[in-house]
Amino acid sequence: MSQAQLRIVQFTDLHLYGAVDGQLRGVATLPSLEATLAAARRELPAPDALLLTGDLVQDDASGYAHVRALFGASPVPVYCIPGNHDELGAMRAALAARPFQLGGTATHGQWLFVMLDSYLHGMAAGRLPESELERLEAALAAHPDHHALVCLHHHPVPMASRWLDTVSLENPAALFDVLDRHANVRVLLWGHVHQAWEGTRNGVKLLCTPSTCAQFKPGSDNFAIDRRPPGYRWLRLFGDGGIETGVEWVDAAAAAPAQSLAG
Ligand SMILES: [Fe+2]
Repeated sequence: MSQAQLRIVQFTDLHLYGAVDGQLRGVATLPSLEATLAAARRELPAPDALLLTGDLVQDDASGYAHVRALFGASPVPVYCIPGNHDELGAMRAALAARPFQLGGTATHGQWLFVMLDSYLHGMAAGRLPESELERLEAALAAHPDHHALVCLHHHPVPMASRWLDTVSLENPAALFDVLDRHANVRVLLWGHVHQAWEGTRNGVKLLCTPSTCAQFKPGSDNFAIDRRPPGYRWLRLFGDGGIETGVEWVDAAAAAPAQSLAG
């Protein structure tokens, strides 16, 4: 395709600790992220923006130092949103300056990005407050000629996994009410569920993405770890609203040794 396109890479659920060998479910999250970034750089050496869709740290404010070390020299914007394991005060402080942008909106060419905050203090589930819904409505209304990509941390549709669906977005109907009022929404993208999935609703592509560390087993009613390796998502966004996207799984051998997945 010869028309202008944006190349975006999404990394999600990094779950970093301050300790370089900190592990989540048996996966050392920093080496796992480093392997994922290296793989993405090989495949997509010059993206137009990066998206980090929440749970950048695992309840450990000192983990943001690694985010700054790994992404702080990015020549392109690094758009971030919080997840349930983020530490908001430390996150705001760590990501206050370019290349980082926490929440808000951005335009690139014919595309509008809206980053939503579904963080709900003390809860694994999420909720979009009225202020975020109003901000989304205003952004979509202000850019009727832009194709919109909307992202949030929590899943707004059931993932056919009983335990995960108890920690989803609490008010998806309110989100879809807004999206349904605007013809320019093309993509709704999230993290949180540590697995790859793709769907469509009212012509909007629904996407979620594996974690850069441990994965959850799709379709499992009870909590279960999937032995799949780390992953990331790439998106090509075309000027006419067209989308190409895919998930890349990273060679597990290049990531941390997962010696104890039950850990
Ligand atoms: Fe999460």
